[in-house]
Amino acid sequence: LPVHPTVLVIFGATGDLAKRKLLPALYNLAHEGALPERFHLIGVSRREKAHEDFAAEAAEAIRSFSRREPDEKVLEALLAEAKYVPGTFDDESVYRGLKEQLDAFDEAAGQPLNRAFYLSTAPEFFPVIVEALGNEELTKAAGEREVRVIIEKPFGTTLAEAQDLNQRVLSVLDESQVFRIDHYLGKETVQNMLAFRFANSMFEPLFNRNFIDNVQITASEDIGIGTRAGYYDHAGALRDLVQNHMLQLLTLLCMEPPVDFSADEVRSEKVKVLHSIRPPHRDATFRARYGPGTAAGEDVPGYLQEDGVPADSHTETYAALRLHVENWRWAGVPFYLRTGKRLARKVTEIAVTFKPVPHLAFGSEGSVGVKPNQLIFTMQPNEGVSMSLGAKIPGTRMRIRPVNMEFLYGTAFMSQSPEAYERLIMDAMRGDATLFTRNDEVEAQWRIIDPVVRRWEDEAETLVEYPSGSQGPPEANELLLGDDEWRAI
Ligand code: BG6
Repeated sequence: LPVHPTVLVIFGATGDLAKRKLLPALYNLAHEGALPERFHLIGVSRREKAHEDFAAEAAEAIRSFSRREPDEKVLEALLAEAKYVPGTFDDESVYRGLKEQLDAFDEAAGQPLNRAFYLSTAPEFFPVIVEALGNEELTKAAGEREVRVIIEKPFGTTLAEAQDLNQRVLSVLDESQVFRIDHYLGKETVQNMLAFRFANSMFEPLFNRNFIDNVQITASEDIGIGTRAGYYDHAGALRDLVQNHMLQLLTLLCMEPPVDFSADEVRSEKVKVLHSIRPPHRDATFRARYGPGTAAGEDVPGYLQEDGVPADSHTETYAALRLHVENWRWAGVPFYLRTGKRLARKVTEIAVTFKPVPHLAFGSEGSVGVKPNQLIFTMQPNEGVSMSLGAKIPGTRMRIRPVNMEFLYGTAFMSQSPEAYERLIMDAMRGDATLFTRNDEVEAQWRIIDPVVRRWEDEAETLVEYPSGSQGPPEANELLLGDDEWRAI
C-alpha cells in the first residue's frame, strides 16, 4: 500500500531507543525506498539545540547503529530537512512550536500531511503528551490527513495504571489512531507463527489438547541489566518481558484462525486466548535473581552488585510461570514460560511437545530412543522451525533415535529480514494496527500478570540466586508437571 505523505514526530528523539532502533530503522526504510515520497522528521527532546545539530546527531546515531554502512546520500536526503523542537513534554510552548513546524510542512506540501507521533519517552509522559497534543488540536484528522500515535512500552506497570492510561489516551484519540508497540510482533519469526499455523493444513489438526502434551516458551538472555538499573529495578523480569513479549508469543501460538488478517479480527482472537488464562497460583510461579558468574568468558557481578541497584532490592531477573489456556482447544495442556537475564545464551523459542506414541512395538532395545515429537519455533538467534522425528538408526537392528527436519531462514531466504522497528514504523504510518497491542488486549495481559506482581511485592522472601552464565535456578524445575523438564538453554 502506498503511504500518504507523512510527518513523523519522535518525542524523546535523542534518547537511547531513538538512537539505537528508530533512527536506524528510518534510514533502512529510506534506503529501501519504502518511505512515502514526501516524508519529514521532527525530533522533540528536552535539550536546546539547532535543527542542524539534531540532524548531525541523528546521522551519527545511524552511522553507529545501522546494520549496514549507510549511504551518505540517502542519509543526507533523509535528514536534510529534519527539524527539532526543544522543551519539556509538559510545557505548552513545545506543542505550539511543534504546530508551527507541522503547519509549515503542510504549507510547503500544499496539502495536509499525515502525522505520526512516536512517544519514545519515559512512560509518565505518555498521557501528558497525548493530552497536550489534543489540547493543541494536533490530533485531528483534516481532509485526507490521518493522525496516529505510537506508544512505546511499558504500557502501565499495573492493571490499574494500564486502564488509566488507556482511558486518558482514548479520551483524546480513537482506538484506531493508537499503536501500542510490542517489538516482538515486528519480528519476522514471530509473524511466521501465523504463516506456519494458518498457511499449512498439516499442522493445524494437531494443534490441540488431543495431540500436544506441553509447551515451553523460553526467552533467555545472556546480557545483564547494563545501565538500566533505574528502570529495571522497578520492573523486574515479569513486567519487562512476560506481560508483553511472552504473552504475545503465547497468544499467537494458541489463537483460533482469524476470519481475515485485519487488525480487529486478529486481535479479537488473541484477546479470547488471554481471557481463557487465569492468573497462576502461587505454586505455578517462580522467581530468582542472577548472582555473580561469567558472561562470554569474563567474570560479571551479580544483580545486587550492579550499579544503581539498591542493596535491599527484591527484583527478579528470572521469572517462570505455568499457565493454562482454559478453552476447548487447550484445556489440560501446561504452558511453561520462563525468561531471565544473564543465562547461558540468548534464545527465544517455543517448543511444542507432542504426546508420546500410544504403544511401542520395537521391543525394549528398539524403543529406548523413541522420544515424543517436538516442533520448535526459534525466534532468535538461529531463526527457523524444526521438527524432531524418530528415525531408524542405520544398521542391522531396529534402533531408533530422534532426527531433525529443519527450516532455517538463513538458508531458505537469501534476503535479510527487516528489523522489527522497520516493519512496525511502516505499519503505523500505513494505519495497519494488526501488529500492535489493542486496548483490551493490554488490559487482559495485565489481568494475568498483575496478581503475580502484587504477590511478589508483598512477599519479601529472599530470592534464589543463580550464577550468571548458567542454565538458571534448578528450583525452577518444580514448576514442571509430570516428567517434563526445561530444555537446555
Ligand atoms: C525489551 C526489554 O523489551 O526486550 C529488554 O525491556 C530485553 O530488557 C529486550 O532485553 C529483548 O528484546 P530482543 O529483541 O533482544 O529479544
